[in-house]
Amino acid sequence: MIHRKWTKDNLLFGDDTANEGLSINLSESGSEPGRSRATVSLAPIAGTTDLTFRTMCRRFGSDSGCTELVSARGIAFQGSVDGSMRYLRIDPDAEGPCAIQLFGHDATDFSRAIPLILRHPELSGARWIDLNMGCPVPKVVKTGAGAALMKDIPRAADIITASVRAAEPFGVPVSVKFRKGWDDECINAVKFAKMCADSGACAITLHARTREQMYRGKADWSVIAEAAEALRGSGVKVIGNGDVRDGESAERMLRETGADGVAVGRAAMGNPWVFSDIRGYLEGAPSRRSPTPRERADLIFEHLDGLTGLLGEDCAMKEMRSQIAHYLKGRHKAAECRAEAVRARSVHEIRDIIEKWVLAAESDRTDDRDR
Ligand SMILES: Cc1cc2nc3c(=O)[nH]c(=O)nc-3n(C[C@H](O)[C@H](O)[C@H](O)COP(=O)(O)O)c2cc1C
Repeated sequence: MIHRKWTKDNLLFGDDTANEGLSINLSESGSEPGRSRATVSLAPIAGTTDLTFRTMCRRFGSDSGCTELVSARGIAFQGSVDGSMRYLRIDPDAEGPCAIQLFGHDATDFSRAIPLILRHPELSGARWIDLNMGCPVPKVVKTGAGAALMKDIPRAADIITASVRAAEPFGVPVSVKFRKGWDDECINAVKFAKMCADSGACAITLHARTREQMYRGKADWSVIAEAAEALRGSGVKVIGNGDVRDGESAERMLRETGADGVAVGRAAMGNPWVFSDIRGYLEGAPSRRSPTPRERADLIFEHLDGLTGLLGEDCAMKEMRSQIAHYLKGRHKAAECRAEAVRARSVHEIRDIIEKWVLAAESDRTDDRDR
């Protein structure tokens, strides 16, 4: 058994300060006595959960965040993190506890990449390393990485063991994110969860869909309940993922599965407010108020400015086009605004377009209501 330096409550999703104010009493909600804190994290979403967005989510109540998936091979091959820095960048002072997520198919790549990351002055603050074993994208899966590892448990175990060994000297734990299984013929999340625990992982995030489902259909929370039951008493945290959209669904997932926390993915896109909604609901003070057009615009500007600082104007504009679509989804005149934003040639022009949208939306009183 691998020795863990961290303890189950101190490292993974932040210490007591990190979780301050975000506790629900599961014993009161009919769950296991003695368990009193559930974490609500932002799930990694490539192209969305950049440092600026994670920082905004943190402000609205997310307990922790994670970078999008980064290739362990890319870092190992270059012998440097420099080429991946755009995706690896973290700022724990601003965004709170954050993990760096790696994907790959070869344990040696992880053994090489992890020390390079954790020795780097800007990345040494990573609270933990997360291993992606759930990505369904053909480009990743065909290399034997991501969800393909659910079909090769010995290889997945080697990668986790090697990663735990590589991160241990830095006092940094390792978690694993995976799925319900490959397809309906191969549903092996519980076996996979036990393997993660035996290989030294500190936590698992379980997305309750198969690889075949990609992001379609309903997440099957019963597999999260089974995994939580199987790992109970092991000290390994179980984070449930899939279809948490608001306070009500977060509370229901926690109650129905006995998971230690939830991770919110698509519901956070263009909607960092979802964390205050969830937080309020779990604390027994639901107060869902739809953001005003002005508040919405201010967050778009904050995201745009943050990305401009990180990536430069051209790149930030490209990234923000799809993000603006998420922020305005279902809103008054969203389609026109999106179409104009796509044609914009500067950050200045995007700001003007959004300001124009605010004026139009404010004059349309229906935009203050949820749609
Ligand atoms: C566009 C997109 C990109 C994603 N990128 C990642 C990623 O980089 N790493 C990862 O582990 N999961 C990734 N995911 C999966 C999410 O983290 C999450 O598991 C999934 O969306 C299910 O949660 P949800 O129902 O709350 O959205 C991505 C999902 C989407 C839709």
